Amino acid sequence: MPTPINPGSTASTSQHLLGLASQAGRSGVRGLVSQAGRSGVRDLVSQAGRSGVRDLMSRAGRGGLPGLGGLPRRADLPKLPRLPFGGEEEPDPTSGHGKVALVTGASSGIGSAAALELAKLGFTVYGVARRVERMQTLANLGITALRMDLTDDASMTSGVQRVIEEAGRLDVLVNNAGYGSYGAVETVPMDEARRQFEVNLFGLARLVQLVTPTMREQSSGRIINVSSVGGKIYEPLGAWYHATKFAVEGLSDSLRLELAPFGIEVVIIEPGPIDTEWTPIARRNLAERSKGTPYEARARRLATMLKRMEGPRFASSPELVGRRIALAATTGSPRTRYPVGVGAGTVTRARRVLPDRALDAIVNQL
Ligand SMILES: NC(=O)c1ccc[n+]([C@@H]2O[C@H](COP(=O)([O-])OP(=O)(O)OC[C@H]3O[C@@H](n4cnc5c(N)ncnc54)[C@H](OP(=O)(O)O)[C@@H]3O)[C@@H](O)[C@H]2O)c1
Repeated sequence: MPTPINPGSTASTSQHLLGLASQAGRSGVRGLVSQAGRSGVRDLVSQAGRSGVRDLMSRAGRGGLPGLGGLPRRADLPKLPRLPFGGEEEPDPTSGHGKVALVTGASSGIGSAAALELAKLGFTVYGVARRVERMQTLANLGITALRMDLTDDASMTSGVQRVIEEAGRLDVLVNNAGYGSYGAVETVPMDEARRQFEVNLFGLARLVQLVTPTMREQSSGRIINVSSVGGKIYEPLGAWYHATKFAVEGLSDSLRLELAPFGIEVVIIEPGPIDTEWTPIARRNLAERSKGTPYEARARRLATMLKRMEGPRFASSPELVGRRIALAATTGSPRTRYPVGVGAGTVTRARRVLPDRALDAIVNQL
């Protein structure tokens, strides 16, 4: 989805577009347009306003747009054997053969389901989380379970090192681990807010740092970041969680362009409500942080709403997301984003068309 741009501000809009285009270079822009699809581009143009686009074209000139200097050419990179990604909507049941995947948050919910789906497709799978004992079922099915805490750099470094030493390569990183630190901005202690970012964003980014040298050497790899529809919309008393997921969206978008020249693809998964331990944990955090504060009554209303979202009636199964992740990991040409689960597509589209005030009015019902 294009970044919303203030249509009233023509100068800053065209500057913004020009900056983007000059970074992408001509072929990058062509790729961008083909990835965005016609309606995506229409959306961008209508947001930028006609004069913003005219300004961009006249400044870029007929000769085209300046390219991005300083990046190594793909041909100059050292090569490890490149294994093809194949299959489209239904993954080929052998598409993971010879490939290695690392899945974070594999002790529960979406991560556990994704690890299982990838193993079914023939991937050598490493599942990581703090509670190794909760990954025994995965271990029984041949998945290697490792202890990793995303707030502990040493455990991330040694975990990735072990995967690469043992398996010799790494094709897919599923950055899935995360939790919801709910409560008002005023009442969530800053240490907890930092921890929320540590797990949901910095841990994810640190793993990207650790795996990219190997993927670059292979000239192939896929990084699948589990964001949320909460990376598109917002709720009162969910600010820190939404801030991390909005950040995952932004980081992933920049990262996609940074890593594309090296043959590494970045995919974003945007689940709607999913029936996992996420909701009870978020509800518990919300209750703890709101008790005895001016936000308590509102927190109770939100907790009731979250509670209603537990169970199969209003939440999709983690297996559905696991299958979508497996598809994103194996399809020949992955989409940039995969909204998945009850209402995820609707929320994404609503965010695109609704003005902020209209969305505020809807969300404020909470
Ligand atoms: N469920 C939903 O409605 C929903 C919707 C949209 C997006 N998501 C996102 O989907 C992802 C997976 O969530 P889920 O629904 O599967 O929730 P879940 O069942 O609670 O699983 C969360 C996983 O994250 C791991 N984790 C938490 N803190 C960690 C830390 N410090 N270090 C390492 N691992 C840690 C947990 O493992 P340990 O506790 O064993 O470490 C667990 O395996 C999250 O990023 C979440 O934000 C969920």
